[in-house]
Amino acid sequence: MEQKELVPGLAGIPAAESAISYIDGQAGVLEYRGHRIESLAEQSTFEEVAWLLLYGALPTRDELATFKAEVAAMRDLPEVLIDIVRAFPKTAHPMDALQCSLAALGMVSPPVDFRDSVQADGAIRRILGATGMLIATFERSRRGQDYLAPDPSLGTAANFLYMLNGEQPSGPMSRVLDVALILHADHTMNASTFAARVVASTESDPYTVCSAAVGALHGALHGGANERVLEQLEAIGGPEAAATWLDAQLASKSKVMGFGHRVYKTKDPRATALQGLVHDVFAAHGSTPNYDTALALEGEVVARLGSKGIHPNVDFFSGIVYQKLGIATDAFTPVFALARVAGWLAHWREQMQDNKLFRPGQIYVGVHDAVYTPIDER
Ligand code: COA
Repeated sequence: MEQKELVPGLAGIPAAESAISYIDGQAGVLEYRGHRIESLAEQSTFEEVAWLLLYGALPTRDELATFKAEVAAMRDLPEVLIDIVRAFPKTAHPMDALQCSLAALGMVSPPVDFRDSVQADGAIRRILGATGMLIATFERSRRGQDYLAPDPSLGTAANFLYMLNGEQPSGPMSRVLDVALILHADHTMNASTFAARVVASTESDPYTVCSAAVGALHGALHGGANERVLEQLEAIGGPEAAATWLDAQLASKSKVMGFGHRVYKTKDPRATALQGLVHDVFAAHGSTPNYDTALALEGEVVARLGSKGIHPNVDFFSGIVYQKLGIATDAFTPVFALARVAGWLAHWREQMQDNKLFRPGQIYVGVHDAVYTPIDER
């Protein structure tokens, strides 16, 4: 049946039935497989959450131990892949590097028949294990640093920080990144997840699925708000300037980056879950000027706009803490992708369980019966 009325951006039109994540924006609820995000952020780890998203229930102790070991084993990238990533131009955007390197990972991996669960599970572990390595390997390369072998005793978050900084991260640092990965692992049918499911529906392999999803996440309207939060804090310049800066911002009807949310009309539950851990990192490792400015800005914004439902969103604190963890500003969106591959792969599995090729309609608004004029007569 042809859709008669265009809904721009397919806003609110269901594109799939999914049992992976759920949002109630009015009530400020986010659930993964029925589990509230606050409870997962408090008690779980990224690997456990990845299993939950992928396979539908929390793993047993043995399942989790095996899964973690299998994912960690996949961090050993083939040498040819390391060479490919290190050959990328040092000026490339890290999201372009990630998109290419996930596609290249597919080139050096066994073929995947989605009907074969052993092959599918193998590819899932390979992508979960390799993504952080691909991001960190490019990061080290563009900084002029040598390749660093992963540490299999560390989880995804701690190993990623170890790869970036060359030293074991502290407990608060690895925990805050682990929780940030949990919080970003899935978020219902957003643009990159939709892109992942469209590509999956063609029976493309999961490397191509994730690579395409990275392309969608790269855009300014999707990933990337936390980069703008940092630019804003630097423009404010210090906590004492927060109130005057906010006056000018609101007078010019400009938005304050890191506040408000399209879906959540109460406080973003992910911001609440992250905030306490962010405070722990700054308490343990010392404050930064941006963090002091952020606290002052939060107080001012909530006092003036809190009654309108405008509170910090997850991006407000994530960028500030990522900077403290030694992550470059343009690598914030790749860190988002490191988390979201878990969600994309869960959606790939779900799509393939009852696949139908995406083939939406369109409303044709062009001309008909155009007359062909030979090129010399135009
Ligand atoms: N700064 C200042 N005012 C804001 C605001 C912000 N960040 N977010 C919303 N408002 C204002 C709106 O202009 C509106 O004002 P009005 O009642 O005078 O018209 C009111 O608060 C209610 O806005 P609401 O309808 O709840 O938000 P929205 O759906 O229009 O916008 C966003 C949602 C995300 C687009 C918006 O909050 C925004 O641009 N935030 C900054 C960017 C950001 O942090 N993005 C990351 C999201 S995870």
